[in-house]
Parts: sequence; structure tokens; C-alpha cells
Amino acid sequence: MDVPQLIISNENLKDAIAKHLSSLVIDQEKLTRLRAVFEDEVEKGIESGLSNSSIQMENTYITELLDGSETGDYLALDLGGTNFRVILVRLLAGRIQKEIIDYYSVAESLRLGPGADLFLFLAECIQHFCNKNSVSAETEISLGFTFSFPMVQHALDVGVLVNWTKSFNCPGVIGEDAVKLLNDSLAKLGLKHIKVVAILNDTTGTLVAGVHDYPDCGIGLILGTGTNGAYLENISRIKRWESGSREGVSSVIVDPEWGAFGDNGTIDFIKTDWDRELDGESLLPASFTYEKYFAGRYLGELTRLVLKSVFTPELLGDCPPGILQKESIETKDVSDISQDILNDGREKTGELLTKLGSSNKDAVSVLQYIVELLVERASILVGVPMASFLDRMDRPSTTIAVTGSLYKYHPSLKSKLECKIGRMTDKPFKFGLSDDGSGKGAGLVAAIAKRIVQRN
Ligand code: BGC
Repeated sequence: MDVPQLIISNENLKDAIAKHLSSLVIDQEKLTRLRAVFEDEVEKGIESGLSNSSIQMENTYITELLDGSETGDYLALDLGGTNFRVILVRLLAGRIQKEIIDYYSVAESLRLGPGADLFLFLAECIQHFCNKNSVSAETEISLGFTFSFPMVQHALDVGVLVNWTKSFNCPGVIGEDAVKLLNDSLAKLGLKHIKVVAILNDTTGTLVAGVHDYPDCGIGLILGTGTNGAYLENISRIKRWESGSREGVSSVIVDPEWGAFGDNGTIDFIKTDWDRELDGESLLPASFTYEKYFAGRYLGELTRLVLKSVFTPELLGDCPPGILQKESIETKDVSDISQDILNDGREKTGELLTKLGSSNKDAVSVLQYIVELLVERASILVGVPMASFLDRMDRPSTTIAVTGSLYKYHPSLKSKLECKIGRMTDKPFKFGLSDDGSGKGAGLVAAIAKRIVQRN
């Protein structure tokens, strides 16, 4: 990890703070160990899923990408964050001709309330969308459902929720098939012409949408509220297969769910007291702990916890009231601070500290140092799965289709990632932004799924 410079004139204080924060550094030895554990967990996950690994490595049953034959209108849903999207994708010969997107905000009461209410709300949004955009109720229309949570997939259109992540925790859904819950709600509203043909993860959608824009795309990466990255796995390595024929199939998209990497304690050697504190205070403790090291939902709060710990009598003195307040630093503040670091400036960092009630003269440098350590660590933690998948796929070139608020709005994460991945693998790669990939991808997957089902 490239360790940043801490600029404080008092040498003793500088050394004491650097020492206090040193557990955030992932040195070469830890990195080598982390990569080995990741690859071991990947193998075990492929073999037997969560029963023997923290990385699920779920088979998505998506065995084909676009072949140019996809034509017609498809519906797509995208649920995973505080916004739910309904999309109509019009395809002609595998190319997107037109897209209509509507956004519906998912209130906290729905994100934390009974699952039945959430799924009824989704169906109502679809009904509203279809009425508003004159989607005919006379003709059957295929729908792809992006449901960005860990699922066990028994088929293309069966996804049983393993657990909630991010800001969702609706009782009554874990262990249930999300497609069935959606179908039940659609039926309640009389929307029988809508046929859910595939359920997928946002990373899968991003990968398929990525192929639409970059033919050599092989990975779909999400760096947003949560994090995960799907990739194309060689079919010969797939052990768990329950539905449809695998004859003539050469690869399949795998959804690793690496946000849960280390939930079984295998990488506790990188875990700091701040990571433990953040996890303990989170909505779903002890679950998806890899995600909690850096994803957008957590990075701001993690920064606050680390900063708070530096305000002790031995280091920066009394803690200002704003820094004691939960979630007073947001992930977008982290992006602003990184922008200051890039500009060699102090403006935004200073404004934030003033807002939080700090006037300590060294606080700007310390906060910038903390942010740089956390973003460096994030780039390594994302780099490990990316480099491992690039090595596994062993292709002459790969575009990593990527989206998510953390990636899009952080000013230096992309270049740090390029640098770290480049040091971890010699396989050529580049990033390709796939804005809206998870929604678009659901429409494309619906078209592909329809084709696969017709053939089987
Ligand atoms: C979910 C994944 C998803 C990722 C990015 C995680 O919390 O478990 O399914 O791909 O967030 O949205």
C-alpha cells in the first residue's frame, strides 16, 4: 500500500498519530496473505457455497450474452438502494434503441417493514409505470428483476434471499424466492401479462450491459452503497448446477457476493478496532463485513470513527461535539477531502472540520491522512478480487464495466484501482463506465433469458 505523508510540525505528535493509525495499512505481507485467502475462499465457494466459505460464488445460470438476435420491448426492475427503478428497454438486433426510466423512492418504513408490503409496493410501481407509459396489458411482456442482495439461485428465475444487506431488513423474505413474492404481488394487482423471466444481481446486470458497450467486457463491478463484482467463469469449473442443460455452454456468469468475504473470520488479520466498532453499530452486525471496510454506505462513518479516536488527551485533545455525532461525516465528504488532497488544498476539509466544531490546527492534515489511508486500503481490497478474477479468466483483454456512487464521485479511486490491480496481475484490463448498467442489464438479461428458456 502506498502510505501517504502526514504533515505535522511536531515530530512527536506526528509519530504518535501515524503509529495510532498504522493498523489501517495493508503491507505487502498482509496483501499476499489476503490474496491467498481470497482465492481459497473462491474455490471453496465454487465447490459448496456458503456452507464452506464466506464467498458464495453463486451460479446465475446466465450462460449467454447478447448475440444480436434480441429484439422487442422488455421490462426491467432495479431494487437495491433507496431508489427503485422501473425501465422499459426497446431492443433491435441486440442494440438498445430506447429506454424509459422511472424512479420511485423506497421509504425507510418499506425497507425495514414486512416483506409483503415491499413487494406489493414494487408491483404498484410497475402498474403505475405501465399505465403512465401505455405498456399494453394485452401482450405478454418479459421482465428482468435486478434484486441486489445475496440469493441462492436454483434457476434463472428463482432467487432465494440469503440475507438482507445495506439499508434493507424486511422480515419474512429471507429463505423465500423473490420472484415468487413479486409474482404474487403482480397477480394481486391483475398484472398477469408481466412474466418475470430472470432474477439477477446488479453486478450481473452491469456485466451484461457492459458487453453491450464494450465487447471484451468480462467483469461487472459495483462500488456504490454496497459492493460486489460478477465475472464470467469457465463452465468446467462450475460444480453446482440444478436447472437446464449445460450442453454446449462454455461459460456462465458467477455472482461472488464478495461483500461477505471474511465473515467467517478468515481475514481478521486486516480488521481494525474501527472496523469492529462500525460493524457493531451497523444495521446488520457480523454480516457483509468486507463491504463495511469501504463501501459507500460505510466509508463516511468509518472516517468519523477513526477521526474520533485521534481526539484523546495524548493526541489532538478533546473531541469536538460534531465528531461525536453518529454519521456526521458522509461518504461524499470523503470524496471532497480526496479532492482537496489532489489539489494540494485544505478548503473543503477545513469547512467540514469547522462544521463539526474543530479548530485544532493539525486536524486538517490528520483528517486528510486518515482519508488517504482509507482510500488506499479500499483500492487494495477491491483490487484483490479484480486481479484474482482477471487471472482466473486469463483473457487477452478485459473491460471491467463499473458503476456506483463511490466509483463515480470519488476523484482518485479509479486511478488508485488501476495502479493496484496493475501491480497484482499482468492481465491487460481497463475500466469502462456502465452508468445505469444494473437497470439496462436487467432488460438485456430478460431478452437473453427468454431465448435460453425457449431453446431449453
Ligand atoms: C449485495 C450485492 C450487491 C452489492 C452492490 C451488496 O450488499 O449483497 O448483491 O451486488 O451490494 O449493490
